[in-house]
Amino acid sequence: MHTPYAIDKNAIDKNDVILTGDRATGRLHLGHYSGSLSQRLALQGQCAQTILVADMQGLTDNGHQPDHVATHILGLVADYLAVGLDPDKVTICQQSQLPALAELTMFYSNLVSYARLIRNPTVKQEINDKQFGQQVPVGFLTYPISQAADITAFGANLVPVGDDQLPMIEQTNDIVRKFNHVVGEPVLRECRALTSKASRLPGVDGKSKMSKSLGNAIYLSDDNDTIRDAVRSMYTDPQHLRVSDPGRVEGNVVFTYLDAFHPDAQHVAELKAHYQRGGLGDMTVKNVLTDSLTSLISPIRERRKALMNAPDYLSDVLKDGQKKARIQTDQTCQNVKRALGLLVG
Ligand code: TRP
Repeated sequence: MHTPYAIDKNAIDKNDVILTGDRATGRLHLGHYSGSLSQRLALQGQCAQTILVADMQGLTDNGHQPDHVATHILGLVADYLAVGLDPDKVTICQQSQLPALAELTMFYSNLVSYARLIRNPTVKQEINDKQFGQQVPVGFLTYPISQAADITAFGANLVPVGDDQLPMIEQTNDIVRKFNHVVGEPVLRECRALTSKASRLPGVDGKSKMSKSLGNAIYLSDDNDTIRDAVRSMYTDPQHLRVSDPGRVEGNVVFTYLDAFHPDAQHVAELKAHYQRGGLGDMTVKNVLTDSLTSLISPIRERRKALMNAPDYLSDVLKDGQKKARIQTDQTCQNVKRALGLLVG
């Protein structure tokens, strides 16, 4: 499978532990693919890797409509398997089925100030986008703490994420340092983000981020007509009126996507040069992009469709993953309680 940004595998050590997750609030799209999924794929089998179906985090802004989370749990597993993640090489599990994660969240909450939480730029942006007004759910404000629980519970030191998640990594390391300092021993492990070159894929409308809530996404399950229409609607260079005009490639979403997803960088460089000289029409470039996106997405979509017809298999994948994850996360929680001096019995 074509992975746009395979990262240097030699940088990975067998003691490394990778953890990522996705909110179970929708299907995965190209932004997830370029930001995180392609890295998970490139690294699977290199070291321990866990992928969390973050249903509890999904509920932090869906408290009154839990079905918006429940209906996406198995779909997320199907997305993972369809892009080529292999349950024999990575552990896929469900956040709500690991009680240690909720317990750790409670313990860590005591080490994080309210001021620190509301300073988180990603949370700030989300609160704004979601128009909570004065009604920000407490669970939403504190989800970075629960994410720190996710990461530390597995002893993860590497987190492949898009760059909007960097504040969560910082928050996690704040908690790790504080906790280790308080208990006077290195119980928790610090982590770092693995971001890819295309960490933040813009939406098809040119807005800074591809996102379900902004309605500017191309999904890994989209059919070819939907993909073609989305590419047709893409923002290009508004000054590029005639084919013969020289065009700009910077900030031109079509070229951003070609950089991220076209397998032949040399060909993309030639297209860019031609576009900048003039004589290359938007429609021609868009057709090239449509072709490369449909050849990336079609096999994923077809595999996903087949997997969605086998829900028992998908839930078995989760159950298997859970067994392993439960042992690891319970152990961390026990270590935390021991370090806090709570195990007096
Ligand atoms: N915050 C991530 C998202 O928005 C989901 C997530 C939950 C996650 N727990 C995590 C990511 C742990 C990385 C590590 O999709």
